[in-house]
Formats: sequence, C-alpha cells, structure tokens
Amino acid sequence: MAPLGANQEAKTTNGSGESLSETAPMEKHSAPLSAGNMFARLAAIGVLLLVVVGAFLYLGGWFSPQKLTPARFADEFERVNGIHSGFRRNHAKGVCVRGFFDSNEQGARLSKAVVFHTGRVPVIGRFSLGGGDPHATDDPSTVRGLGLQFSLPDGEQWRTAMINLPVFPFKDPQAFYDNLVASQPDPNTHQPDPAKGAAFLASHPETARALAIIKSHAPSSGFDNTAYYGLNAFRFVNADGASTYVRWTLAPMQPYEAGTGASQGKELLFDGLIASIQRQPLQWHLVMTVAQAGDPTDNATVQWPEGREQVDVGTLTLDSVESEETSPARDINFDPLVLPAGMAPSNDPLLSARSAIYSQSFTRRAGETKEPSEITSSEVRR
Ligand code: HEM
Repeated sequence: MAPLGANQEAKTTNGSGESLSETAPMEKHSAPLSAGNMFARLAAIGVLLLVVVGAFLYLGGWFSPQKLTPARFADEFERVNGIHSGFRRNHAKGVCVRGFFDSNEQGARLSKAVVFHTGRVPVIGRFSLGGGDPHATDDPSTVRGLGLQFSLPDGEQWRTAMINLPVFPFKDPQAFYDNLVASQPDPNTHQPDPAKGAAFLASHPETARALAIIKSHAPSSGFDNTAYYGLNAFRFVNADGASTYVRWTLAPMQPYEAGTGASQGKELLFDGLIASIQRQPLQWHLVMTVAQAGDPTDNATVQWPEGREQVDVGTLTLDSVESEETSPARDINFDPLVLPAGMAPSNDPLLSARSAIYSQSFTRRAGETKEPSEITSSEVRR
C-alpha cells in the first residue's frame, strides 16, 4: 500500500492517533481560506504587532521627545560626565563601609518598622562624592553622600541615600534635569556656559533660595564629621496605624571641624575617612524630625520651621572600610523606596523619580565591564 501523505493522515486520525470514521461529518473539515479572508487575518496580525511595538515605543518615550524618562536622565548624566564603564552615573567616586545600628526603641512610637525594635541590625554602606566622574579630585565643596542598607531580622531591608546638604537644590526631577542640561560643558571652552546657569537660576527661584541656605552651612573637614540629610519626607505608620510625616538626619558624634575650602590632595576626603575609621569606629545619631500639619512634604528645597520635634531613634556605628572592588555595596542600588513595613513614601515627586533613575543607572553599570575604582583595596589597607 502506498504510504499516507500528510493530508491523508489528517483525514484519517484526530491527532491523538485515534482513527476517525470514514463517515465523519463534513463540518469537521475546515474550508480553505479565501484570498480575502487570508488578507484580513494577516492584516489583523499586523495591527496587533503595531500595537505591541507602539506600546513599547510609547513607554520608552519615543513619541514624546520632551518627556523625561529614566533613560533620558541617564543619557544626560553621560553627556555631562562621559561614560565610565561599571560606575554609577552620579556619585561615581566612592568607598564602602560596614557597621551596625543600635535602636533605642524611641522610634517605635512613630513607626512599627522592625528596625526601631530594641536591638542591633547590621548595616552596609557607601560614602561617595556627587558627580559622575569616578576619578574626580576630592573637593570639600563637592556634595558628600552616604548610602545605607539596614538588614532587618525579619528579612526586610531599609535603604536610604543621604547627602550633606540641609536642603535639596531642585524641587522636582525636571528641575534637576534642566540644571544638568544647563551644566553641559561648552564644546569650545569645555566649561559650563555661565549664561545658561544664570538663566536656570532666574527661572528657578526655589533653587536660588535653597542655595542660599546651603551656602550658610560651611562644609566640615571630612566624611566623618558631616551630618547627612535624608531630605525627602516619608510617612511613618506606627503599630496603632497612626501616620506621621518625618525627615531623617544623621548627626555626627565626631566633633565638627571646618573644611579648608580648597582641595589639598586628590583623595583628601577619602584618605581622611579611611584613617579616621581605622583609628576608631565612627558614630552618628539617627534623628527623626517630625512634621506638623501644613509642613510641606513634597518639596525638599524647603526646610521645616525651627522647633519641630526631634526624636533620636538610635546610633549608627561604622567600623570597617573596604574598596568598591571587594565590597558587595558596589552592587547595591540604594533606592530610597526600598522601605520596611511601617515606612512609606510621601508625595515628594523626587522619590519615585530617584527610584526609576537609580534603577536605570544600576542596569547600565551592572552590564558593563568593571574598571578599577579610584579608591583601591591597597589604598584602604595602607
Ligand atoms: C531627581 C533627583 C535625583 C537624581 C536624578 C539622582 C540621581 C542619582 C543617580 C543616577 C545615582 C546613581 C545610582 C546608582 O547607580 O546606584 C545617584 C546616587 C546617589 N544619590 Fe541621587 N539623585 C537625585 C536625588 C537625590 C537626593 C535628594 C539625594 C539625597 C537625599 C541623593 C543622594 C544620592 C546618593 C547618596 C547617591 C549614592 C548612593 C550610592 O552610593 O549608591 N540623590 N543619584
């Protein structure tokens, strides 16, 4: 007997190997598609593909070149600072630290977060300088940063990234971005155009006011005797379900010493930190400032009025320092929205923007070859 062709087999089995009766009803056989039907089906598939591709392009901001997306933000950081393989797009120069937080239980009346129960939790962190150049010369006037990750006994994490400025110069992500664009180096002079900076300030009076506050706080001499400010407001929820808005600050236990103003060495600040932490553990009080009704929770350029209640909730101790080359902190994204139960974001527009942009920066650097960190392992061991 001649072997069965594919079509014949289709007529004689139902696909699971059972034989179909010779007298199976006609409607079991699908009628061949007419050219018109075929065209309609192909057109429908085409439209579906267009919708899917269009959705991706829309979400990527391709139809709205003015729309501020995390990718555009990261591109702009790269235009201003260049691309430094494997490094953060901002706060690129850094060194990593470890230590612990001892809660004094005073925070528990504000938030049910486990970090405010009695006891000690391990902390890993990273000190940094603002800006996208990982090999920048330390300058006491450059913004200093501290990223921290608290690992709570129930498996939750609390991450925060703080700076040494008492207010933030930009009220929303668009203002930060516009300032970045204004600070792009001129192709001829390789310096930012002062006229663009002046135009930015003229159109952003809140930045001018914030800068005046910042200038009235002379920077300290080192990373160790600096206060670090969380700046954004957060909503704390306690065990009774009551909400309170707070901002947090790390107040140094190392005595204040004024910075000199000008740089006295490429690694002045980092070398000072390494020497200081190797001499003795460094400590800060973690202080919550409690908002009153009407205090702005959506604008980090504005300080809350004097006299707001301050709650010292415990002590941060940092007792070891490590190069980015060996520390797991290099690969942490200190996303300010990684919060334990009992802490929630406020309506500050910076918070969700930061989270999205840090993620974009993290994704880019995670996929790149790692170049040596400026503060090497041997520098830390010296
Ligand atoms: C729209 C506003 C902001 C933008 C666009 C921005 C952008 C960035 C980017 C791209 C990074 C690198 C993230 C990574 O690769 O892991 C970064 C890191 C950092 N930012 Fe921001 N930032 C903003 C606001 C702030 C504010 C308000 C603070 C302080 C309260 C802050 C403190 C820091 C610190 C300390 C780091 C370094 C953390 C680390 O060591 O990983 N930033 N920022």
